Amino acid sequence: MDKIKSLTGMLDLYDDGDKTNLPAKLFYLEKKIRDIFKGYKLNEIRTPILEDTNLFIRSVGRASDIVNKEIYSFNDRNDKGIALRPEGTASVIRAIIEKKLDQSNHKLWYMGPMWRYERPQKGRYRQFNQAGVEILGIPEGMPEFEMISIVCSIISEFKLQNCTIKINHLGAQKNKELFCNALVKYLEPFKESLDEKDRQRLEKNPLRVLDSKNNETQDILRDAPSIKEFIDSSSIDLLKSIQNNFSDICNIEIDYSLVRGLDYYSGFVFEAVSSELGAQDSFLGGGRYDQLCAKLGGKDLPSIGMAIGLERFAELIELKDSLVKVVSFLNVTGNLEPKAYKIAHQLRSLNKNIILDVHLSEGSLKAKLRKANKNNSDYAIIIGDDELKNNTAVIKPLKNELEEQITVSLDDLYSFFKSI
Ligand code: HAM
Repeated sequence: MDKIKSLTGMLDLYDDGDKTNLPAKLFYLEKKIRDIFKGYKLNEIRTPILEDTNLFIRSVGRASDIVNKEIYSFNDRNDKGIALRPEGTASVIRAIIEKKLDQSNHKLWYMGPMWRYERPQKGRYRQFNQAGVEILGIPEGMPEFEMISIVCSIISEFKLQNCTIKINHLGAQKNKELFCNALVKYLEPFKESLDEKDRQRLEKNPLRVLDSKNNETQDILRDAPSIKEFIDSSSIDLLKSIQNNFSDICNIEIDYSLVRGLDYYSGFVFEAVSSELGAQDSFLGGGRYDQLCAKLGGKDLPSIGMAIGLERFAELIELKDSLVKVVSFLNVTGNLEPKAYKIAHQLRSLNKNIILDVHLSEGSLKAKLRKANKNNSDYAIIIGDDELKNNTAVIKPLKNELEEQITVSLDDLYSFFKSI
């Protein structure tokens, strides 16, 4: 019979114990990032993965690539248009409005899968995971610093090299529109020289032309108007101040051509890129979205946020050997012997800092020891028929060749386990 395969661009994340594999790094990253978020007193929010499709049309924008080409949307049994969330911000704001919490401040974080129907390649999946932060209710100023502080903490925690945080300011909505008009006016005469993709961008979402990977387009853009001419000096001061404050911790670059692919941004925007990632080099992005809440039917709620692409970030980290000790428990009694299992159960309750790997399958001592070594165990505790009869156990050091294996009473085994 034909085997059913996973869908294109959707990974099974299975940690087989190999620390160089993506799943091991991803799971570790998730745990560490949660701890960092807690250090900033952010509260967790989990929203459903399915939403009304209109939520994303009204927030991310009908003309954006995400809604235009990438959204997974379909009608449910009741003919209602629903979508797998392509990002987390719109859902968070929807939830805050629905709970009538849109008149107060919030510092929130979330983590989970997102879906975009993109052409899969290294670092680009159709199902991927994001960890995000949203700071709601506070106008431009301190939240910008808090946000970059969180980004720097994460980059420093994992000692990432070769990465840059690019920052820009899109001005208020009005400035952004004026700049957009000037850009269209400049690009119109070059329309025929643009490729199909950039021509479409020019029509539907002109700021995205600035993101073009086409060299000819980039040549044309060299003399294009810059956002710098359209924003207030206070916006430029903010960029410089952020750069000055954090440049001893992270590499921060003001990039006036940085625009984001989602419509809801105005004001401060940023992206972190790494030269180690290849074509999909942006592992984190965010910015201010002061109009979004009102646009979704809520109050005016000035807000800023960011999301980390966890698969991309995971590619950048290396896992060190864990300091936690691993002990393999090898039952080599002839028959199924619940008494041996009970000893393992008691050991677990004595020392919660130790990973006790009970080998559940049958097999020879040799095969089990091979597996214990492969699992990077520090010790093997071996119980065979003789040990069971005499109430003893064998402790075999696996990492330190100078230590001999010893046979001990069960009481001594418990004391030993407590002392590791
Ligand atoms: P975004 O830039 O669309 O922003 O996505 C954030 C990050 O998700 C990207 O920098 C990238 O690392 C990762 N990412 C995006 N698409 C893919 C993909 N197909 N495969 C793997 N990773 C991907 C947002 O989603 C905004 N909601 C961020 C935000 C929060 N802005 C304000 N608050």
